[in-house]
Amino acid sequence: MSAAIQKNYFLLRRLHSLSGIIPVGAFFLIHMLLNSRAAQSPDQYQWVPDFLDQIPYLVYIEIGGILLPILFHAVLGVVIAVKGEPNVTRPQHGWAENWGYTFQRITGVLLFILIAVHLWQTWWVHTRIKLDNALNGTHTEFEIYSLMNGIFVNAGSGGAVSYNWLWLAIYALFVLAAAWHFGNGIYNFACKWGFSTSRQSQRFALTLGLGIGAIGMVMGFASIWGLTFAPWATAVH
Ligand code: HEM
Ligand code: HEM
Repeated sequence: MSAAIQKNYFLLRRLHSLSGIIPVGAFFLIHMLLNSRAAQSPDQYQWVPDFLDQIPYLVYIEIGGILLPILFHAVLGVVIAVKGEPNVTRPQHGWAENWGYTFQRITGVLLFILIAVHLWQTWWVHTRIKLDNALNGTHTEFEIYSLMNGIFVNAGSGGAVSYNWLWLAIYALFVLAAAWHFGNGIYNFACKWGFSTSRQSQRFALTLGLGIGAIGMVMGFASIWGLTFAPWATAVH
C-alpha cells in the first residue's frame, strides 16, 4: 500500500462506510421504489425514465451522484473484502455477528459483478439511445418495460411465451444480496459511528437495518413480478 493511501486509510474507510448509506443505500431504496411501478402497469413504469430524462444535467447527476460513489464504494469494498480476515472461526464475537461480517464481504463481491452486468444490460442501453438521438438527430424512445420484460420472458412462436428462469434467479439473488448487504450495513454503520453502543441499541439498529432492507426487497420482488408474472407481462408479446 502506498504511503499516501496508508496515511489516509482511516478517512477512506470512514468515507466508504458513509457512501454505503448515502448515496448508495439511498439510491437502492429509491431505485426499488421506482422500479416497483412495473407492478402497476407498463405505462406507469415508462413514466420513470420519461420523468427522469426531464431533469437538467441528468448525466452529470447520474455519474457524479450515483455511478462514481458506487465505483468508489465497490473498489474499496473489494479491497477490504480481499484483505479482511474471514473471522467465522474466531470466537470473540457471537456466531451470528461473525457470519454477518463474512456475509457482508461475500455479498459485496457478488454485488460488484451483478451491478457491472446490470449496468451493461440497462443503463448503457438507455445511454446509447440518448447519445444516438443527440448525435444523429433520431427520436428513438427508451422503452423500459419491454427492455426488462425481454430479459425475463421469452417470446415463442405463435404468441407462446416461456420464462427465462436463469435471469429471474440472477435478479432475485441481486435484490436479495443488495437488500441484505444494505440492511446489515446499516447496523454496522450505527456501531462504527457510535450511534449504537449499548447491547440494546445495537439490537435496535440491527432490527431497523434489516427492516429497511426488507422494504427494499419487497419492492424489488414486486418489480420482478410486474415485469414477469403480471397479466400484462405476457400480453406485450
Ligand atoms: C428488480 C430489480 C431491478 C430492476 C428491474 C432494475 C432496473 C433498472 C433499469 C431499467 C435501469 C436503467 C434505468 C435508466 O437508464 O433509465 C437500471 C439502472 C441501474 N440500476 Fe437497476 N434494477 C434492479 C435492481 C438493481 C439493484 C439491486 C441495484 C443495486 C444497487 C441496481 C443498480 C442500478 C444502477 C447503479 C443503475 C444506473 C443508474 C443510473 O445512473 O441511472 N439495480 N436498473
Ligand atoms: C458494488 C459492490 C459492493 C461492494 C464490493 C461492497 C463491499 C462492502 C464491504 C466489503 C463492506 C464492509 C466494510 C467494512 O467492513 O468496513 C461494505 C459495507 C457496506 N456497504 Fe457495500 N459493497 C457494495 C455495494 C453496496 C450497495 C449496492 C449498497 C447499498 C445498497 C452498500 C451498502 C453498504 C453499507 C451500508 C455498508 C456498511 C458500512 C459500514 O461498515 O459502516 N454496498 N460494503
